[in-house]
Amino acid sequence: MVKKIANLPGNENSDELKRSAYFPTLVYSVQLQDAVSMNKEILAAIYEEHSRDSDGIERSNFKSLGSWHSQNNLHKNPNFQRLTDRIEIAAAEISKDLVYDPSKELKVTTMWSISNPPGSSNRAHIHPGALWSGVYYVHSPEGAGKIEFTDPRTVHLMNGASFKRKTQRKSECWTKVKVQPTAGKMLFFPSWLYHSVEPNLAEGTGRESDRVIVSFNINQVPRKK
Ligand SMILES: [Fe+2]
Repeated sequence: MVKKIANLPGNENSDELKRSAYFPTLVYSVQLQDAVSMNKEILAAIYEEHSRDSDGIERSNFKSLGSWHSQNNLHKNPNFQRLTDRIEIAAAEISKDLVYDPSKELKVTTMWSISNPPGSSNRAHIHPGALWSGVYYVHSPEGAGKIEFTDPRTVHLMNGASFKRKTQRKSECWTKVKVQPTAGKMLFFPSWLYHSVEPNLAEGTGRESDRVIVSFNINQVPRKK
């Protein structure tokens, strides 16, 4: 998008300074309005999965800190069908927004859950093999860690500008973005975008203080006729 920034003094024709924004990093979000009932179902399904596969696997999570990561096939589990459908409804809008090939659709290709008890977090990572990735917040107690996205233009971090003090920086100039998890929120981000999760600082013990999410990968697949 080209934006006019100013008319430059010093020339009788008043030259226009314009700005173009190339190579943007897009993050989509939606807060589901009917999350309460759906989250009850999903949470029960996650705990069922947890008891069946109590060891889980280690990816960005820290098993040593008590964090549990499920297998990555939850989208094939009927208990997660409602959520998978909601993800794909939103993904279809993203596909339209970006004018993707309409003969293909964005489908969930892997899905997993992570529960982080107090004190646990997630390492910075990306999701190889996917086009879009996302997260859905199922349970988020007060103090649950924020997700943090890191500026993918690492060369840009080498020589940063200094900014006017006590002034909110324009989002175009942020080098990291933190998003507060709230139950029912869904985020979509490019799979190549590095992200991590701050430690869960919720007080207490037991399930109420766990930060519980479902994460997923999305790819373009031929649309069924
Ligand atoms: Fe992730």
